[in-house]
Formats: sequence, structure tokens, C-alpha cells
Amino acid sequence: MLVKEMQDEILRIKKEKDVCILAHSYQAREIVEVADFSGDSYQLSVMAQKAPQKTIMMSGVRFMAETVKILSEDKRVVLVNPFAGCPMAEQMDAQMIKDFTANNPGYTVVAYINTTAALKTVCDVCVTSSTAVKIVRSIANDKILFIPDSNLGDYVQKQVPEKEIRLLKGGCPIHAAVGVHDVETARAQHPNALLLVHPECIPAVVEKADFVGSTSAIMDYGKNSDNKDFIIGTENSIVEHLQYKCPDKNFYPLTKKLICPNMKLTTLVDVWRALNGQGGEEIRLTHETIVKARRCIDEMIRLGG
Ligand code: 13P
Ligand code: SF4
Repeated sequence: MLVKEMQDEILRIKKEKDVCILAHSYQAREIVEVADFSGDSYQLSVMAQKAPQKTIMMSGVRFMAETVKILSEDKRVVLVNPFAGCPMAEQMDAQMIKDFTANNPGYTVVAYINTTAALKTVCDVCVTSSTAVKIVRSIANDKILFIPDSNLGDYVQKQVPEKEIRLLKGGCPIHAAVGVHDVETARAQHPNALLLVHPECIPAVVEKADFVGSTSAIMDYGKNSDNKDFIIGTENSIVEHLQYKCPDKNFYPLTKKLICPNMKLTTLVDVWRALNGQGGEEIRLTHETIVKARRCIDEMIRLGG
């Protein structure tokens, strides 16, 4: 079956079965094209809540599907490819946080949305890369424990110096692998390009950027800027999406290493199979987990909306 035929089939079945497909911006173009909505993790969590359909299919990674389930307990939420996880989301467990707060009372625990549902149950407020600075700034408490991404946490600390932000060692192995040498090489190859990076990159890379933002913020910047050339410091699918949307501009990957193997696991065939009940995994969380984890997502939406 050709890609176009499979896309038409997916569009037909999802309408017939009243399914909403959400796709993170790191997904391949052919998946984004059949999605009801695509965007960064904050936008997906808001859209999931608004979607009228009773079944939501997440084309992304597990924590994103869990977030949808937490926000919409009565809906059937399916992760299109059950093997698609986010290594950062699994780096810490609830006990680590309980130990920290027992030894360090008085901290507000801020969790990047890239965390498991179980970890969210012991946190106070969630953030995404697009809302982290705004939310941390608006928290009444000056003592913050920020988990799990120490690079994003460091970026937030620099934007919100008035708060004391404690970090634990964690982060995205894909973004953290980018070094200053990659920036120097890319800048030498594309001297007129602006460098747009995700805050999951190490501080030494973030410091050299012309713009720092979430996946959607990077896309908006690339589309709206008068500049012609851009070096993209986040997952390379964003280079592809931007090049497609803005054929008169030039988008270059900061490094070819910026490929998230988990985001690449989901294919258009997986979407088709999941829609036909031949694949995918329904997300099941206990009511107790949902209630506890929801508190910090609701708080995120309240402070970041
Ligand atoms: P966004 O919050 O920018 O969508 O990022 C999610 C992610 O996994 C980045 O690696
Ligand atoms: Fe997780 Fe990094 Fe992949 Fe984003 S790019 S899903 S943070 S591993």
C-alpha cells in the first residue's frame, strides 16, 4: 500500500471509529499529516483534555500517553507503539523523591512532564519545556527541587535567579550528547544561520544559542523569523518539518546525532495497526495514581495556561 493510500485509510477509519490521533512534533511527517493535532508536550496535554472523542491514540512516547490518561480517565488512551518510551522519564523513582523531601523539608517538587505517572504522584507541579520558566517563577515557594532534567533545570535557574533550585542528576541522553564542538562545526559551515536549541541541551550549548525553546517554539521561531538560515538544536525531525513548511529557507541539523530512537519507533503502519486493534497498548493506571498524578498536571495547566 502506498503512503497516501494508507493515510487515506487511517483518516477514514479514525472518523468511522471516532478516534483522535495526537502526534508529538518529533513524529514523522506522514504521521503528523493524519493527526488531529500535533505539537509540543504542553500543547498535546491541553488538546487531549479538549478532544471530544472517547478514544485517543498517542503517537509519541509513553509518558505522553500516560499524561493523556491522567487528564482523561474516562477515555480509552492507546500508545500507538508500546515500545516507545523516554529514557529520561524512567531515570528517577518515587522513593528517590520521598527520600529527598524527608531529608530536605520545605521544597516544592517541580517535575518535567517527561516523567512516569508514578513519579508524578509525589511531585507538586509539572512543567514542560515551554512553560518551565513561567511556572517556576510563579511558584510562591523560593525553594524548588527540579527533576529529572538537570539541563532544563539549569536553564530555568538562570532565568529565575531569585529562586534556589536544587537539581538531581538526570536528563535526555540525546540532547545531552550535543557538545560545543558540534556548535562550532555547524556555525563554521553555516555562518549566517541562527542557532535554535532545546533547553534539554547542556548549558555550554544553550549559552551559544540565538534562541532557546520547546519544539513548537523552535518551529514558530523558524517560521516567523526574517532570517533565511537556521541550525536546529533539537531532534532532527524538526529540521524536516520546518524545511517542508518553509521551502524558501534553509534548516540544518546541529548534528546528525540528534535522533531520538524512541520517537522514531512509531511508523504509519503502527498507527494503522493500532486503529484496527492489531497493535498499540491501552494505557491502564489505577484511579489512585491518576488522582495523585493529576494534581501536579492540573497545577501546571493553572499556572501555565
Ligand atoms: P517538548 O516539550 O518541547 O515537546 O519536548 C519534549 C521532548 O521529549 C523533548 O525531547
Ligand atoms: Fe525523551 Fe530525549 Fe527522546 Fe525527548 S528526545 S523523548 S527527552 S529521549
